[in-house]
Amino acid sequence: MQKEIVVSGIRSTGFLHLGNYFGAMRNYVRMQEDYECYFFVADYHSLTTHPDPKDLRNNVYRVLAENIACGLDHTKVALYAQSDVPEIPELYLMMNMLAYKGELEKVPTFKEKVRQHPDNVNAGLLTYPVLMAADILVHRAVKVPVGKDQEQHLEMARNFAQRFNHRYQVELFPEPHAFNFGAGGAKIMSLDGNGKMSKSENANATIYLNDDDDTIRKKIMKAKTDSGPEAPGSEMPDYIANLFQLMQLVSREDVYNDFLGHFNNCTIRYGDFKKQLAEDMVQFINPIRTKALELTNDPARLQKILREGAQKARESASRTLTEARKAIGLHYY
Ligand code: TYM
Repeated sequence: MQKEIVVSGIRSTGFLHLGNYFGAMRNYVRMQEDYECYFFVADYHSLTTHPDPKDLRNNVYRVLAENIACGLDHTKVALYAQSDVPEIPELYLMMNMLAYKGELEKVPTFKEKVRQHPDNVNAGLLTYPVLMAADILVHRAVKVPVGKDQEQHLEMARNFAQRFNHRYQVELFPEPHAFNFGAGGAKIMSLDGNGKMSKSENANATIYLNDDDDTIRKKIMKAKTDSGPEAPGSEMPDYIANLFQLMQLVSREDVYNDFLGHFNNCTIRYGDFKKQLAEDMVQFINPIRTKALELTNDPARLQKILREGAQKARESASRTLTEARKAIGLHYY
């Protein structure tokens, strides 16, 4: 039976963190056995902020290394850099003709970037969701493992797919949907309780996959808590729920259930809870950090993986582009 097609990408803009792991990479690793998977480093997307070329290159290597360190096997999936697949910008150009300024200006992530960086509102930022749609549609993917913050972009990808099919009277693009093994999509909050964990904001409240053991301990011990639940069955504040979510990710099930029981009957001591979470987090991140470091010290190996990944991705992408050109009428001989 034909396997379902899966695509996802991570921007090469900074250090990867638990949000990236929980929202995306953990799902990649679980999907690699049963799906035809295309996972890439979104280096073109990171150009919206004009990174220094040397930093960009190192970031691409690091994102790749961290993905492999988390358990991705490049012999099972296509692992590549977005800029190594020229069919992606070609499809992006075609899709740009079907994307309207008004709808792009309404995208919340665009409005947020305009607010943060009013001096750098470039066209690449405006058409960011079109490039993302091209990343996905170029392989005709149906499942896209991403965190909750990307769901609006997925909706736009579905619109562009439908619009293309409708305009050219073809059934070329299936509708892609966000996917997460956890119910309701993943969102890891920042440890200070303000917004989501992110690559560029509040580094002290974000746990990176390359944080050393002591840094992890310090960050978790400083995580926001309060004086504890006052009555049995109290609702959990979202910053506490976030810590429980992290514990569910890295601790043994009986440990998690134990602390949850203590929360529910109001006997929880947040100091002990965070100490346990910190130790389990150290055990979880330490092997990833060590493996990623080993890989970044071996660029020849990473280059080989990128080259092979690009080849696999281009085989699939070029089949789609042949069909897309034909549908539009761009074929002359
Ligand atoms: P990026 O690089 O910001 O994030 C990579 C992945 O990590 C998820 N994520 C989170 N999940 C839960 N909690 C958080 N705090 C958190 N922070 C980040 C993101 O949802 C994402 O899955 N536009 C994308 C990159 C991209 C892409 C694509 C993804 C480009 N083309 C095509 C899928 C398909 C982005 O900026 O992700």
